Amino acid sequence: MDNTVHQYLNDLMDWGNDISRGLDESLSQDKNEQILERLRSWQSTILHLKESEQFISQHDLTAINAEGERILFDIKHSKQINNRNKGIPYGQRKLPALPYAYNALEPYISEEIMRLHHDKHHQGYVDGLNKAEKELYIKKPDAKFMKYWLREQAFHGSGHQLHTIFWFNMTPNSTKRPEGELSQKLNNDFGTWEQFKSLFTKTATSVEGDGWALLYWNPRNGKLGVQSFEKHQFFQIADIIPLLVLDMWEHAYYLQYKTDKKAYIENWWNVVNWNNVNNRYKKAKSLMWNLF
Ligand SMILES: [Fe+2]
Repeated sequence: MDNTVHQYLNDLMDWGNDISRGLDESLSQDKNEQILERLRSWQSTILHLKESEQFISQHDLTAINAEGERILFDIKHSKQINNRNKGIPYGQRKLPALPYAYNALEPYISEEIMRLHHDKHHQGYVDGLNKAEKELYIKKPDAKFMKYWLREQAFHGSGHQLHTIFWFNMTPNSTKRPEGELSQKLNNDFGTWEQFKSLFTKTATSVEGDGWALLYWNPRNGKLGVQSFEKHQFFQIADIIPLLVLDMWEHAYYLQYKTDKKAYIENWWNVVNWNNVNNRYKKAKSLMWNLF
């Protein structure tokens, strides 16, 4: 066997060993074993070629190489899926970079506003949300501090998630009118684009003080709609999909439990339909934006 080919096969074996050692808990145990098995079988083919005295063709080498690349692709792809499934650890949310320059929206929105709004205000929401997430999910607060940290999560969480939508909702290259499927749906639900624009403008104008105007998709009636969020934080987080809810209005328990909310909650756990919650989770997780 040609020395260069021999050396090349040795290099591939070393590479395979490095990859095997480099596999870690970033992949599931099943996937790890599956990849190790593929690597072993690939290396045994290489070993077999090395030990046989026959001529090794370019075709053999190309096939070996291609399988190595496929294994590498599989590892990278599985890691990506695994990272998405894990999500962002609590307390590590990030400010997304603007998808355009700070001055790109001029003259409609000035560079000065964009810098302050993105770098200071939005960063403040991210920092506040990270603190609230660490307190709620890592340190786990005493009951008496729950309300405080839930309020912090709602305020900063809604601030972070709405601003993230807002930056990507804008572009210096606007087509000025809705396009594609959305354009059709706007016409279906609101009559014309002008009628929608007028309704949205009136919604935005109606906001008292601080808040937001939204065009939303309602999965419960299959319609678009407009809504204002006064402030944005009244113990709700924008851009989330509820999976399991418990009605804590008095009408839901008072006739039976009077003021004993604790007993109502404790007993309620006996009637949760986890099959339904799981189904909602499976549908909801098909919607995942870029993670920030
Ligand atoms: Fe803002």
